[in-house]
Amino acid sequence: MRPADLASRKQAGLPITMLTAWDALSGALVAEAGADAVLVGDSLAMTVLGHATTLPVTLEEMLHHTRATARGLASSCGPGQMPLLICDLPFLSYQCNPDDAVAAAGRVLKETPAAAVKLEGAEPETLTLIDRLVRSGIPVMGHIGLIPQSVHRLGYRRQGNDEVSRERLRRQGLALQAAGCFALVLEHVPADLGALLQQELDLPVIGIGAGEGCDGQVRVTADLLGLTSRQPPFSPPLLQGRALGVAALQGWIASQRHPAQATAPAPATKPVAPSAPHC
Ligand code: KIV
Ligand code: NA
Repeated sequence: MRPADLASRKQAGLPITMLTAWDALSGALVAEAGADAVLVGDSLAMTVLGHATTLPVTLEEMLHHTRATARGLASSCGPGQMPLLICDLPFLSYQCNPDDAVAAAGRVLKETPAAAVKLEGAEPETLTLIDRLVRSGIPVMGHIGLIPQSVHRLGYRRQGNDEVSRERLRRQGLALQAAGCFALVLEHVPADLGALLQQELDLPVIGIGAGEGCDGQVRVTADLLGLTSRQPPFSPPLLQGRALGVAALQGWIASQRHPAQATAPAPATKPVAPSAPHC
């Protein structure tokens, strides 16, 4: 998969699936599941590194996790079957000055197998930067709506709730397209706005909490698998992975402490009620 293949999928009316990954294990998982694109999102700051927001993760850490993810993809994909690998540019790796931003995005392409970067927002300086990155040969995925790197300005609230905000998001989508983004993530906006942008834009609109009308969907894999302690309301878990894992491990620990009872059915294989508490 290359960045332009996502636009081909849009033109062909084929849905696009993108999942996050953060290491070789999760990379192998999402590649084996068949995701079209794999995002090493800066959400790993929260889901994997335990930070309260995405702000603290560094470019070095993103590069490290992207290399590990790429090894996981390679381990479970045949040649020619690799999903598109994209790395988030972390907070302040691209906002300080344009030369440093090109160098940061360039490090992603030079030092990892990722073929594209993603960055947040569509402020005038961000649009100028995207144009320069794209003309330098660095494919860029945009990200508008809820943008977690601006949590202290916008919070985690849904965006696009009134006419002014809707119109701003429409204009941002058009501007990101004009700046040369090959696709954009649209996060936590009303479903009808997701559908409207999907229609208005030639570039693929990949939604999360943006309704079913987008060209594709992205999810944080740790949320989908129920591994995180709390999932956003717009991204419910598909299974209670955390509770299942804890129950399996508790069963193993119990079998070590009371080997005589190990002949009883292993607790690890018992189904866990979806309502089971996390801890
Ligand atoms: O960091 C991330 O996981 C993301 C997705 C939610 C799109 O940016
Ligand atoms: Na992100």
